[in-house]
This record gives sequence, structure tokens and C-alpha cells, in this order.
Amino acid sequence: MFEFISTLLCFLFSLLWWSLTLFNITTFAATPIAKPGCETSCGNLTVHYPFGIGLDGTCSLSRFYVINCNRTYDPPKPFLAKGNLEVVDISVTGQIRVKSDVARTYYEDGKVVESKSVYTSQTNLYKFPVVFNDTENKVVVIGCDDYGLINGTLGRYFSSGCIVGCSKPVDVINGSCSGIGCCQTSIPKGLKGLSLELYSLNKHEHVSNFNPYGFAFLGNPKNFSFSASDLNDPNFVNRTQDIVPVVLDWFIGVNETCEVAKKNSSAFACQRNSKCINFDGDEGGYRCNCLPGYQGNPYLSPGCTDIDECVGPKNLCSHLCTNTPGSYICSCPKGYHGKTVKKENDHCVKDSSLNVAVVLIATLGSILLPLIGWWLYVVIIKRKAIKQKAKNFQKNGGLLLQHRMSNDEHIVERTKIFTIDELEKATDQFNESRIIGQGGQGTVYKGMLGEGRLVAVKKSTTISESQLGDFINEVVVMSQIIHRSIVKLLGCCLESEVPLLVYEFIPNGTLSNHLHHLNEEFPITWRMRLRIASDSAGALVYLHTSSSIPIFHRDVKSSNILLDDKYRAKLSDFGTSRHVAPDQTHVTTRVMGTFGYLDPEYLQSNHYTEKSDVYSFGVVLLELLTGQKAIRAICEQNRSLVSWFLSHMENSHFLDIVDPQVLNEGSKEEVITIADLAKRCLNLDSKRRPAMKEVLLVLETIESSHFKLPQTDEVQTTQSFKQVLDAGVTKSFYHDNAATSTTFVTESSYPRSAEVSLQFNPR
Ligand SMILES: *[C@@H]1O[C@H](CO)[C@@H](O)[C@H](O)[C@H]1NC(C)=O
Ligand SMILES: *[C@@H]1O[C@H](CO)[C@@H](O)[C@H](O)[C@H]1NC(C)=O
Ligand SMILES: *[C@@H]1O[C@H](CO)[C@@H](O)[C@H](O)[C@H]1NC(C)=O
Ligand SMILES: *[C@@H]1O[C@H](CO)[C@@H](O)[C@H](O)[C@H]1NC(C)=O
Ligand SMILES: *[C@@H]1O[C@H](CO)[C@@H](O)[C@H](O)[C@H]1NC(C)=O
Ligand SMILES: *[C@@H]1O[C@H](CO)[C@@H](O)[C@H](O)[C@H]1NC(C)=O
Ligand SMILES: *[C@@H]1O[C@H](CO)[C@@H](O)[C@H](O)[C@H]1NC(C)=O
Ligand SMILES: *[C@@H]1O[C@H](CO)[C@@H](O)[C@H](O)[C@H]1NC(C)=O
Ligand SMILES: *[C@@H]1O[C@H](CO)[C@@H](O)[C@H](O)[C@H]1NC(C)=O
Ligand SMILES: *[C@@H]1O[C@H](CO)[C@@H](O)[C@H](O)[C@H]1NC(C)=O
Repeated sequence: MFEFISTLLCFLFSLLWWSLTLFNITTFAATPIAKPGCETSCGNLTVHYPFGIGLDGTCSLSRFYVINCNRTYDPPKPFLAKGNLEVVDISVTGQIRVKSDVARTYYEDGKVVESKSVYTSQTNLYKFPVVFNDTENKVVVIGCDDYGLINGTLGRYFSSGCIVGCSKPVDVINGSCSGIGCCQTSIPKGLKGLSLELYSLNKHEHVSNFNPYGFAFLGNPKNFSFSASDLNDPNFVNRTQDIVPVVLDWFIGVNETCEVAKKNSSAFACQRNSKCINFDGDEGGYRCNCLPGYQGNPYLSPGCTDIDECVGPKNLCSHLCTNTPGSYICSCPKGYHGKTVKKENDHCVKDSSLNVAVVLIATLGSILLPLIGWWLYVVIIKRKAIKQKAKNFQKNGGLLLQHRMSNDEHIVERTKIFTIDELEKATDQFNESRIIGQGGQGTVYKGMLGEGRLVAVKKSTTISESQLGDFINEVVVMSQIIHRSIVKLLGCCLESEVPLLVYEFIPNGTLSNHLHHLNEEFPITWRMRLRIASDSAGALVYLHTSSSIPIFHRDVKSSNILLDDKYRAKLSDFGTSRHVAPDQTHVTTRVMGTFGYLDPEYLQSNHYTEKSDVYSFGVVLLELLTGQKAIRAICEQNRSLVSWFLSHMENSHFLDIVDPQVLNEGSKEEVITIADLAKRCLNLDSKRRPAMKEVLLVLETIESSHFKLPQTDEVQTTQSFKQVLDAGVTKSFYHDNAATSTTFVTESSYPRSAEVSLQFNPR
């Protein structure tokens, strides 16, 4: 049931919608003419309310406004109330026209033929709320021997008249009713009843040849034009009656004013959107007018309706029109502005391009501003980063390096200045898994450059101003050195927070590690030791003599000797190395180096000479011989390897402390020669120490004689080491330099645990 109702409602609504869409809605909203259910026309007459057709008065405001439509005529004729006044038209603004009564007399030979001497036309509207309009209506008399008398009822007695006389028809002036053949007179204001009497002065005796008729009427003579022929026209009445209607002014509420009438709202005739206007007459009364901007019948509910001034020819706007209740607004189209925009006064002017530009800029701005902001942000961040890099470069001694570079073009050739981006990429953002060495001075990362080249990147811990010199020194010194047994410096990077050094990657770690920590499964053979010793000595000889300016390494020790893939030695760490001017034999500095390796003479004098390097090398020789650390143990009596060795040399028990492996593989002579060489190197008096050249000579002699002996060859050794690695033996190294606190750790997860490379000495 419910469903059915809802479906029905739905159907009805859609029907309503369709009817509203299909039929012009404005036709439904046409202003009403008569009361609902009442006829609107009688014959050709449109009957506007308050007038209404029907003697019972239900269609009119009151009995005074009844239109009697007499249908015995065809077409039907409308009459005002019960009177004989035939209505011509009704205007809602307050006028009604009724057919005029035209009086006629006809004389023949001085006798009245058609009428008695007097023809009376009488109109009495005394009871009706209407008056004769005094400006529209005239009393007109036509003839050449006639006069008209008017009596009126007005509340007070009124009488007036008009006389015409003429002798010849030629005297008549066509179109002019001014006394010859035609006269007219006005009626007073507020006239409600009228009696018109037409008389002849001499019964047309003198004019009968051309004027047998006399005519008179009250009406609007606007459409009447007097002509001489009218004087002799028997059809004048039928011809004229329809074009000279009497104009009556009608009103509401006899003896009432707007102010009084408004008090009885149920009887007040003026409906919505209308204005009450007092009628200017003796009897009072009022009328209703639609307010400006409204149209319709102000006496009929719901009153006046708004005029849509924007539709059709009513639209006075030259551009855009907006209808408002009772009015309308003209406006200029988009992009134009102006005050008056009526058609005849078009003041719409184009908006200045500035406004358009402002709108455009505002629109674009709202879109672009975030983008620009973001772009600026990025630029600022980048600038900041660049600035920071430049600052770091300066802080890290970049200027010092540049200065040094400008003095020596070799540095420029051999030292590359890396960008931080390159190195971050190479070390996977300095990933912890890439760490291959760690010490007091910094961390060493394994890295791979773009071309696949392995490098060791040394990242210093924050270094102070005083250490900066050392750092730059290392760069400068090492960049000048090209030697098979010296770790090659590839370049540096100064843009980072801390300076970075980039070395060639040496896969097999430090000598120190191999001597003191490596497992027995892969011991360093005597043969390898001899080669390491001679390689290292060769490197030192090169430093001391071959390079353009003598260089003291100043930190010769087993942990600064790295082993490459063939277990050949490579000297590293030149942080403390110094150039020495050709005429100088020593440099005076604060004591630097590593305890256990330090020349005692240098300790006393602060004078570092090339013989100080020789002393340190002597200690390395001892390590190679004994396999012991330079500082053996804290608690033992002979803490220092040197003093331990020397004491044994004195007692000729030296062979007791030699590494058993060395004794196994090397001849006694070789061992003793090396021991003797070491002893000479360790002489307290530097002058009695051999030069590095001499040391190298001795070592090379021993090496070459040893290599003549039938021994396990190198290749086999390497292979056996590889086998060990392939067997999956991974080792962790922990090295604690007794003299200092250098810690050297290789991650066990690192694929090749033996590939420990660079270590640098702490200071
Ligand atoms: C509806 O009325 C408007 C204005 O009154 C007129 O222009 C239009 O032609 C009418 N449409 C129909 C279908 O009568
Ligand atoms: C009524 O109107 C028709 C045509 O509009 C016209 O021919 C006729 O004469 C008119 N009748 C009266 C009585 O005005
Ligand atoms: C209509 O007119 C005829 C002829 O003038 C008259 O006899 C009749 O009474 C009229 N009817 C009404 C209702 O006035
Ligand atoms: C008489 O008619 C004229 C023109 O239609 C009008 O302006 C005037 O107000 C009318 N007189 C009266 C008293 O209504
Ligand atoms: C008009 O005046 C004449 C003469 O005074 C008089 O006889 C007649 O009754 C009056 N008519 C009217 C309608 O007042
Ligand atoms: C006036 O009009 C009539 C006919 O309409 C004509 O015969 C006569 O000559 C006219 N008189 C003058 C003075 O124009
Ligand atoms: C005069 O005649 C014209 C057309 O014939 C008509 O529209 C107009 O209403 C008439 N004027 C008067 C006051 O009767
Ligand atoms: C004038 O009209 C009436 C009826 O309307 C008619 O009886 C009469 O004969 C007409 N007069 C002339 C002269 O045509
Ligand atoms: C209007 O008022 C006058 C006097 O004040 C009175 O004589 C007359 O009868 C009144 N008319 C109506 C219709 O009330
Ligand atoms: C108001 O008008 C109505 C209808 O015309 C009438 O019956 C009523 O008495 C009037 N009231 C007053 C206070 O005049």
C-alpha cells in the first residue's frame, strides 16, 4: 500500500515537473483580470475587477461596479449597472468609457419634423462612485441656429450653455469647433448628473437650405473633427456616437479616505504591492495603484506582481540585467565596470589591464609561491652545504695545502682532491661494515671508487689546529713519494667535517699483526721476513736519499709496515714525517713517535736525524728476529725489546730469544748477521749507527744468498695461505700496542679476515 502511494506521488511529481518544463510558467502566472470563476469579457469588453459581470454583484466589489451583460444583443452588450450606459472600455487605473448620447433635431420649413423643439439627453450617476472627467469631456453643439443648455447636479446648482449661429456654409472652418457651426463648452469638476437640452433660436428658418439639423452631445471630442458637411448629414448621430464616448472617473469608498479605509483591513480594497491614493473629489474615496516595478490588478488578491524588467523589450540594461522585487539591477559584464548601464547611457568600461594583471598575478602567485619557496629552500640548503664544505676545506687546512701545492707542481699532479660525495659513495656512507681499522687517530674504511679501484679511506678524528699541520704534512710528503714499497697516497678530501685521506688499498694488514697475532697455521717465514726487512729498508733508503728532499719517516714500526697480496712490505703513515732542507741534518721538534721504537738520543736532544729512523728500523729487525713486541710486557724486568735483546747479546744467549721458526728456516749465520746489524742500528750513539743504505746492502746480501738455497717457494706459500682462508678460518685480531692505546680490530664478518690493511700510529 505504502509502496503504491509513494509510486503514485513520484509519478505525480514527475508529471508536475514535466508540465512546468513543457508549458511556459509565465502563462500560468499571468495577472488576473477578474475574480476566480467570473467572466472576464462581455462582447469586446474586458471587465477588470472591481467591476464584474453579473447583476448579483458576486463578481464585483459592490453593486456599484456591476456590469450588466445583455446577451439579447449579438454580440452581447455591456451596460453599467442597471442603467442605460453602454460600456466601451474599463481601465484598471480608474477610468470607464460609456457610449455617448447624441441629441438631434430636424427642421423642415421652420417646423420641427423629427423631434419636438427640445431634445433632452439625461445622465444621472448620482448614486455611483463615478464622476464625469472634466478635462476629457466637452459639451458640443452643432448647427447654424442652435443653442444647448446644461443643468448639472453637483451638490449646488449649476447651469451652462453654448450658442452657434452662421449664415453661409463657406464661413465654416473645417476641423475647428470654435463658434461657427460648432461650439463646445467645458463642464465643471466633480459633475455626477447632467441634463442637456438642445433648442433652436429661429427654427432654422434662415439656414434651412444648408442646415436642417441640430446636434448636441457630451463626450470626448478627441476623435471628432467638425466639418461643414456635418450641418446637413442625417447620419451624423450613427456616425459620431461610437467615437465620442463619455469618460468617467471611478473610485472606491464613497465618503472614505485611504487613512480611514485602511483601518478596516477586510474592507480595504488595495491588495499587496499596491499604494492607496485619495481621490480628488467632493465625495472623497480612494484608488489603488500598483507600486513602481509591479503590475497587475491592485484590487484583486494576491495583488500586484513583480515586473520582470529583464525580459523582452522591458529590459533597459545594456549588458547584464538582474531582476529584483519591484526593480532591477543593471551590471557590467565580467572584466568591465561602470555606474550607469542603461541602454541609452552605457557606461561600462573595460577593467584596466592592471586589475586583470593583479588577478592573474594573485592566481599564479598562489600556485607558484609554494614552488618558489621550496626551490629557495633547496637552494639555501645547497648553498649552506657548499658553504659548510668550503668552511671545512679551510678548517681542514685546504688553504695550507693549496699553498703547498702552488709551491710544488708535483703534488698537484699526484694528489687528487676528492669530493665528499665521491668518498661517501665509495664507502657506502662510511658504513660500519666497511671499517678495516680503528685507532686513536681515526678510522680506516675500505672503499671502492667508481672505476672499481679499492681504496682505504682514513677518516681522522677531529683534529686540532696543531695536528692540522701533521695532516697536511702527510698529504704533501706522501704525494711526492713514488716507491714500490711505500703506500701510495691517492688523494684527500677536505670538504668533510674531518679531513679524509685516500690510500691505495693494501690487502694483507700490518706486519705487526702477522708477527704478533697471526695463527701458527700461516706463520711468516724467514724468507718473507728477509724480504720484508729489505723492502722496508729500501723504502727508507729511498726516503732518506733518493727523493728530491730528504724525508725522515719518524715513525718506523712494524704496525706501519703493511703487507700486500704477495706479502711484500709497504711503508705507511707519514703523519709525522718531515722534509729536511739539504743543508740540514736534523729537525728539532717536540718528541713524536712510538715508545719502544724511539731513538734514546732523540729523546734527550730533541734532534731527529736519519739515524733515528735507523734506530727504529733496528727495533723492527728485532721484532722480525724474535717475533716479540717492541714493548714486551708491562711487568717484566726487560720491558723494552731492545734492552731485552741487548742483555741477551751480552750474555751470548741471543739465540734463546730468536723465534723458533726463524731458527728452523734460516741459517745460524744469517740470524747472527741480522742480529748484529740490529745491534749496530740500536747503538746509543747515532753516529755509530749504519746508514740505511748500508743496512739495505747487508739485508740484500743475506736475502740473495738465502734465495740460492733450496727453499719452499713463494707461490706455494701463498697458495697454502689461500687454502687456509678457503677452509673458512676466520680470525679476529686484537692488537693492543703496549706503548699506546691503538686498537686495531678486524670484523670477523669481513669476508677476508686476513685482508687487514692500514694502521696508523697514535700520537
Ligand atoms: C515563455 O515566455 C517568454 C517570456 O515571457 C517568451 O519569450 C517565450 O517565448 C515563452 N515560451 C513559450 C514556449 O511560450
Ligand atoms: C468588436 O470587435 C470586432 C473585432 O475586433 C469588431 O469588428 C467589432 O466591430 C467590435 N464590436 C464592437 C461593438 O465594438
Ligand atoms: C436587454 O435588452 C433588451 C432590449 O433593449 C431589454 O428588453 C432587456 O430587458 C434587457 N435585459 C436586461 C437584463 O437588461
Ligand atoms: C480626467 O482624465 C485625465 C486624462 O485621462 C486624467 O489625467 C485626470 O486625472 C482625470 N480627472 C480626474 C478627476 O480623475
Ligand atoms: C434645468 O433648468 C431649467 C430652467 O431653469 C429647469 O426647468 C429644469 O428643470 C432643469 N433641469 C434639471 C435636470 O435640473
Ligand atoms: C469643408 O469640407 C467639405 C467636405 O468635407 C468641403 O466640401 C468644403 O469645401 C470644406 N470647406 C473648406 C473651407 O475647406
Ligand atoms: C479615437 O479613435 C481611435 C481609433 O479609431 C481609438 O483607438 C481611440 O480610443 C479613440 N479615442 C477616444 C477618445 O475615443
Ligand atoms: C441609425 O441607427 C439606428 C439603429 O442603430 C437605425 O435604426 C437608424 O435607421 C439609423 N439611422 C440612419 C440615418 O442610418
Ligand atoms: C457622504 O457624506 C455626505 C455628508 O457628509 C452625506 O450626505 C452622504 O449621504 C454620504 N454618502 C454616502 C454614500 O454615504
Ligand atoms: C469592515 O468591513 C466589513 C465588510 O465591508 C463590514 O461588515 C464591517 O462592519 C466593517 N467594520 C468596521 C469596523 O467598519
